[in-house]
Amino acid sequence: MDLTGRRILLGVSGGIAAYKSAELARLFVKAGADVRVMMTRAAQEFVGAATFAALSGNLVATELFDAQQEAQIGHIEMADNAQVIVLAPATANLLARLAHGLADDLVTTVYLAFTGPVVIAPAMNKNMWGHAATQHNVETLRARGHVLVGPGDGEMACGHVGVGRMSEPAQIFEATCAALGVAGELPGELTGRRVLVTAGSTREAIDPVRFIGNRSSGKMGYAIAAEAAARGAEVLLVSGPTALASPAGVTRIDVESASEMAEAVDAHIADRDAAIFAAAVADFTPTARADLKIKKGADGQGMTLELGRTRDILAGVTARADRPRCVVGFAAETGGDLADKARDKRRRKGCDLLVANDVSEAGSGFAGDTNRVLIVGPDDTIDQLPLLTKPQVAARILDRITTFLKPEA
Ligand code: PMT
Repeated sequence: MDLTGRRILLGVSGGIAAYKSAELARLFVKAGADVRVMMTRAAQEFVGAATFAALSGNLVATELFDAQQEAQIGHIEMADNAQVIVLAPATANLLARLAHGLADDLVTTVYLAFTGPVVIAPAMNKNMWGHAATQHNVETLRARGHVLVGPGDGEMACGHVGVGRMSEPAQIFEATCAALGVAGELPGELTGRRVLVTAGSTREAIDPVRFIGNRSSGKMGYAIAAEAAARGAEVLLVSGPTALASPAGVTRIDVESASEMAEAVDAHIADRDAAIFAAAVADFTPTARADLKIKKGADGQGMTLELGRTRDILAGVTARADRPRCVVGFAAETGGDLADKARDKRRRKGCDLLVANDVSEAGSGFAGDTNRVLIVGPDDTIDQLPLLTKPQVAARILDRITTFLKPEA
C-alpha cells in the first residue's frame, strides 16, 4: 500500500482506544503518508502527545490558541493542507459535537474548516453507543457523507461485552485508503471466507397464475450480502423474487419456491464458513399445483386449498455434519416476549446466532428501510439493538459473525 505524498490529519479524542491510534499513525507513516496529529485534551489523559510526535515526525496540535503551534501551522492551514481527516477514536462526546457543528476545541474547529473526506472510528461503552442520542448523531454524520468504521463487537475496557470497541487499526487504515481513492491491499476481515445468504420471500404456486407469498422485500438479506462482500467474503445470495439489484461482488441464484430455495442451499452449502438465513420461507405449500388456471365455478362457491409443510432449510443445514462454522437464523415474530421466543427458536433450529424482529412493530421487519432486532448468542445472551437502518443492522450482524469466525473464537 503506497500512501506516499498523501496528507492525513489524525484526530484523537479521549478514550482508552487512543493507544490503538498510535498503531494507526504508524501504519499511515509506514505507507509513506505525511501524518499530522491533533488531540483533544481528554485524549492526552490516555496517550501523551510525545508518542504521536515521535511516530509522525510532526509536532502534535492540541490547543486552538497555542501561539507556538499556530506559528508552525495554523488550524485553518491544517484543514486546508489535509487530504483526509481520520477521527479515531471518536468518543460519544466528539460525535455529538461534530454532528451539531460545535467548534469548541481544536479538533472540532479544524473539522468544520475541512471540506474533504472524513473517516470516523467510534469507540465507547455499548450503552452509550446504543443510546438514541448517539445513534441520531451517527445518522447525521453518515448523511453528511462521512465514513463510519465500526465500532466492533467484543469485550470492552469497562468490562461490558457488546458493540462499542474501536475497529482495528488495519480496518481504519483500509477505510482511509478507500476514502483517498487508493485501492486497498490489506485483506478485509472476511477475506477468504465463503458465506451463503438467503433473502426475500418464496412463492408457492397454486396454479400457473396464483401463488401464496409473503411481504419480504429482500432488503434485510441483500444488506447482509452486501456487507459480507464489502468485508472481503465470497458471497452467494440465494434470493426469492425481488425488485432489488444484486449487491456489488455478490453471486446470486434466483429461486421462486421454498423447495427451490432448499435445493439451491443444498447444492451450495458445503465448505461455507457462514450461512445467514434472512429469507421469509413459506412454511406451507399447496399439496397439488393445478396445471391450468383454476376456474371459478358458476355456483358461487369458495374453494378449499390443501397445504402441506415445506422443508425447514435452516434446521436441515444445522443438522449436517459439515455445517458452516457460523449459522445465523432469523425469527419474524408478532407480539409476545420476543427474547423468549428468540431463545427458544435458536435452540430448536440449532443455529449459533438468531436475529429476531417483531414484524408487527413500527419500523421493524418487512419491506421498510429500518429494523429493530435483537441477537441471541450461543450462550442465550441477548443483544438488543436500537432501531437502525437495514445496512446498519447488517453491519452489526457481520460484526458478530466476524468475531465468531476468528481463529481464537
Ligand atoms: O426482506 P425484508 O422486507 O427486508 O424483511 C426482512 C425480514 C422480516 C424478512 C427478516 O428480517 C426476517 O425476519 N426473516 C426471517 C423470516 C422468517 O421466515 O422467519 P421464521 O421465524 O418464520 O423462520 C425462522 C428461520 O427459519 C428463518 O431464518 C427462516 O429463513 C428459516 N426457515 C423458515 C422456514 C423454512 N421452511 N425454512 C427455513 O429455513
